[in-house]
Amino acid sequence: MFLVLCLVLGIMASVSGQPHARASDLYYTDITPVTDETRYTTLNPDTQLTEMNKVKHSKGNIVFTAGERASGDRLIVNHYDDENFPSAKDVEVLMSYPAGASTGVTLTSIEVYVDMAADDAGGYLTKGGIGQTNVEILLTSNQTRSFVYETFIYGY
Ligand SMILES: *[C@@H]1O[C@H](CO)[C@@H](O)[C@H](O)[C@H]1NC(C)=O
Repeated sequence: MFLVLCLVLGIMASVSGQPHARASDLYYTDITPVTDETRYTTLNPDTQLTEMNKVKHSKGNIVFTAGERASGDRLIVNHYDDENFPSAKDVEVLMSYPAGASTGVTLTSIEVYVDMAADDAGGYLTKGGIGQTNVEILLTSNQTRSFVYETFIYGY
C-alpha cells in the first residue's frame, strides 16, 4: 500500500512539477530506541501531547491523521524511514516542520502511515499543528522489532 501510494504521489508530483514536495524542510530523528529515562515525555515533562486521530487497519498497521485536505493545498513533505532491531525495543521518532526558518506554509493535513511488529503505536502533535506554520510530531511504539513509517504533510 505504501509503495502504491508513493508511486501515485511520485507520478503526480513529477507531472505537476511541485517545487515544494520535498522532505528537506523536515527535521527528523532516527527511529530511536528509548528507555523510561530517555523517552520524550520524560525529557519534556511540561509538553502537552495532543493525540492524532488513529485508525487501525490491521495488526501492526495504523494511520495517524490530523486536519483535512483543503482546496489549494499541496504536498509539502513526504518522508519515509524504516528500522529493524535484533530484539524488541521501545522506539520513538520526532519530526519537526520546518527544519529551519519559517516557510510561511499554513498546514492543512498530516498523515502518518505506520507499520510495525508490535500491535500498537502512538502518534502525537507536541508543538504547532493544523492551521499553523509549524508542527512537531512524535511517534512511539513499545516492544517492537520493526518500525516503518511514511509521513505526508500538506499545506498552502
Ligand atoms: C509505552 O510505554 C510507556 C511507558 O510505560 C507508556 O507511557 C506509553 O503509553 C507506551 N506507548 C504505547 C504506544 O503503548
